[in-house]
Amino acid sequence: MNPSPAVFPARSRRGKFVTFEGIEGSGKSLQLRLLGEQLTRSRIPFIATREPGGTPFGREVRAILLAEKGPGRVPEAELLLYLADRIQDLKEVVEPALRDGIHVLCDRYQDATRAYQGAARGISPSLLQVLAQSLQLRRPDLTLVFDLPVEVGLERARRRNSEENSSQGRFEAECLAFHRRVRRAYRRFAAEEPDRFRLIPADAPPEKVHDRVWRVTRTLWEAVPARPAVRGRSRG
Ligand code: TYD
Repeated sequence: MNPSPAVFPARSRRGKFVTFEGIEGSGKSLQLRLLGEQLTRSRIPFIATREPGGTPFGREVRAILLAEKGPGRVPEAELLLYLADRIQDLKEVVEPALRDGIHVLCDRYQDATRAYQGAARGISPSLLQVLAQSLQLRRPDLTLVFDLPVEVGLERARRRNSEENSSQGRFEAECLAFHRRVRRAYRRFAAEEPDRFRLIPADAPPEKVHDRVWRVTRTLWEAVPARPAVRGRSRG
């Protein structure tokens, strides 16, 4: 028997879609994990996903995109791969969860495409907009941009790579000017759409940054009453 809406009111409410953005080494993935842990402790249902790579198909696309010694590609070809990953993630992971009243934390989304393929690689914003509209890409309820000087972020990323004994990623190998364009773009997006974005200073200890994240997201979770059962699970 289906439970009546009066018993499970949260089922009729959509979850919130929150995206995490920032330059390399901004700490966004760590902050996503810390927020997820806090949501689990607070019995607030959520899932975590990432782009590229939130689905099995997306993981194959990610391997092509981020292969350090992969074959050359033009920026437009790269753009279409990011979008292929994104639309798969939206339809397979994000939309079903939101429909179910489960919040979604997404590590990078369309603003990464606007910053990296648009501002840094030079693809026109109008092409990005036409594609986003045609695919009906969902607008996030909230986008957190973890902001810090490019030199600090790249140094962190370099340290992480040497600790993990992994080589530089494709994008980390880009010149300083490239990363500065990405950072400037994110800051501009935040200024242009203040109702959706929150710029979080990220050159601080992780716990301090997390406190800020919790403060700016708190009201969002309160807007959707949690389901009776804990549904927190994490991917990626
Ligand atoms: P990510 O997994 O966030 O790597 P990191 O945690 O090391 O920053 O992102 C992988 C790379 O993909 C990153 O350098 C940014 C790039 N990217 C784009 O260029 N466009 C996009 O649309 C997305 C989602 C990512």
